[in-house]
Amino acid sequence: MATGEAMFINGQSTVSVTRRSYQVVIAATRDMGLGMDMKLPWDLPTDSQFFHDVTTRTTDPTRRNATIMGRKSWESTPLEIRPLPGRLNIVLTKSSCHNIAIDENVLVCDSMESALELLATEPYSLSIEKVFVIGGGELLRNYMNAPSCDAIHLTEIDISVPCDAFAPRVDTSLYHPWYSSFPIVENGIRYSFNTYVRRKDAVVGSGEKKSAAGSDFKEYSFLPKMVFERHDEFGYLNLIQNIISSGDMNDNNTLTKFGCQMRFNLRKTFPLLTTKKVFWLGVVEEILQLISGSINPMEKGSNIWDSDEANEYLNSFGVNATEEDGDHQHLYGLQWKHTDARLIVQKFSQLSDVINKIKNNPHNQRIMLSACNPSDLKLSVSPCQTFAQFYVANGELSSQIYQSSTEASIEIPFSITTYSLLTCIIAHVCDLVAGDFIYVIGQARINKARVKAIQKQLQISPKPFPILKINPEKKKMDNFEASDLELLGI
Ligand SMILES: NC(=O)c1ccc[n+]([C@@H]2O[C@H](COP(=O)([O-])OP(=O)(O)OC[C@H]3O[C@@H](n4cnc5c(N)ncnc54)[C@H](OP(=O)(O)O)[C@@H]3O)[C@@H](O)[C@H]2O)c1
Repeated sequence: MATGEAMFINGQSTVSVTRRSYQVVIAATRDMGLGMDMKLPWDLPTDSQFFHDVTTRTTDPTRRNATIMGRKSWESTPLEIRPLPGRLNIVLTKSSCHNIAIDENVLVCDSMESALELLATEPYSLSIEKVFVIGGGELLRNYMNAPSCDAIHLTEIDISVPCDAFAPRVDTSLYHPWYSSFPIVENGIRYSFNTYVRRKDAVVGSGEKKSAAGSDFKEYSFLPKMVFERHDEFGYLNLIQNIISSGDMNDNNTLTKFGCQMRFNLRKTFPLLTTKKVFWLGVVEEILQLISGSINPMEKGSNIWDSDEANEYLNSFGVNATEEDGDHQHLYGLQWKHTDARLIVQKFSQLSDVINKIKNNPHNQRIMLSACNPSDLKLSVSPCQTFAQFYVANGELSSQIYQSSTEASIEIPFSITTYSLLTCIIAHVCDLVAGDFIYVIGQARINKARVKAIQKQLQISPKPFPILKINPEKKKMDNFEASDLELLGI
C-alpha cells in the first residue's frame, strides 16, 4: 500500500512524496522486552516459523516482500540466515562506516522515510508486495504506532525476563485486535500470536486526517493471507459455505450437516459476527432473563422459539404461560435455575452450582449446565441447546456447548453471541478471564430459500470483532442490567 503526502515549504504545497505503508512483526515479553545482549532470550520454533511465513509469503509469486530493520537488529541476526532469504533486507543506519550491503538482497537507508520512498518508486513499487518493519526497539519507538503502520503482528510471550531492548505498547486508541491465536506452550513458555489493525477512525496529529490507509481501510485484505484468514468469523463462514456446497438434502427444502464445531477466542474480542447483523440488545435482554431464571415472557429479544407446546410444557410446572407468553426460551431459564421439580424434590439451581464449582472447585470435571431433561425428549419443544460444560485453566474460563440441531443463518449467529456472553459474564463474576468458547452442533441446517442471501454474505470480508466491557462494579450473577454489558468498536 502506498500513501501520498504533500510537502509544505513556506506554507505552499510543492511536491507530492509517495511512501509505502508497512506492517510491524515482532515478538515481545509481557513488558514488551525484545532482546538481551543482542539475542532473543527465548527459543520458540513455532514463532520463528510464523515470522518466516508472514514475512516471506506473497500472493503474487513473481513478487517478494521487504523487511526493514535497525542496524543493531541486522547485526544480531545469526549469520546463517543473514540476509533473511527470500526477502529484500533494508537496514537503517545513520552512519556510513558499516559495511552492510553485501549483496543484491540488501539495501542500506539513512532514514525510515527514505526507505519508504524508495520502496514506492520503481522497480521496488512493482517488485515488492508487502513491507514489514521487524525491529528493534529504537526503530519501533518511532514507527510502531505511527500513521504509516497499517498493522502490528505481535507474538505476546507470557514471560518476564531481563531485556535491554524494548518496543512500545500497542496503542489501543489507534489499533484494534484482528486476530488472537489460542495460547501455545513451547519449551515451557506460553505465548500467542496477535494481530492488531489500524482503526478506521484513527486520527493523525491534530485529528483532522484519517489514518494512513484512510478510506482504503474498508476491508483488511492488505493483511498477509495467512493472518487475514485466521479471523474467528471464518469458522462460521466456512460452516455455512460447507452446508450450502455439500450439505445433505434430507428433504426438498433443507440442507443439513451433521457434527460441526467452531471455536471462538474470547480473550481479546467478542464474537459478534460482522458479516451479518446480530441483534445485540436482543441477546443481552435474553441472557439476562435466562440468568435470572425468569419464566415470564420476554418483552424484547427473539421470538423465534415461540410455540404453543412450550406453553403447555411450562403450564405443567404450574407456570402460568398463556398463548401470548409462549416462548420456548423460558424452558432454559426453568432448567438452569429451577431444574425440573418433578425429578428432584428440592429445587436445584444449576447456574448457582456452576458458579460455586468454578469458584471453589475449579478443576471439577463436571461443571455442567443441562437444559435437557431426558423425560422431555418426546416433546418437540425439548431445548436443542442441550448442554454446556465449563473448564478452568491458567486463570481462564472456557466453555463448550452442545446443540442438537439449529438453523445456521440466523440462529447460529444468535447462539454464538448468547453463549459467548454467558461465558464472559460467568468468567467476570468468578474473577477469571474468558478463554475459549467451543460450539458443537449435532445437526446444522439451512433452508434452501436462504442460500442466495448466504452467498451474498460470503462475499463480505469480516471486520475486527468488538470488545466487550463488563461493569467492574457488578459481581453478582443476578445483578446485571443491559447497560452493564457494553460492546466497544461496533
Ligand atoms: N523480539 C523481536 O521481535 C526482535 C526483533 C528485532 C530485534 N530484536 C532484538 O532487539 C535488539 C536490537 O534492538 P535495538 O533497539 O538495540 O536496535 P535497533 O533498533 O535494531 O537498531 C538501532 C540502530 O538502527 C539505526 N537506526 C534506528 N533508527 C533509525 C532511523 N530512524 N534512521 C536511521 N537509522 C536508524 C541506528 O544505527 P546507527 O547507530 O548505525 O546509526 C541505530 O543505532 C537485539 O537484542 C535484537 O535481538 C528483537
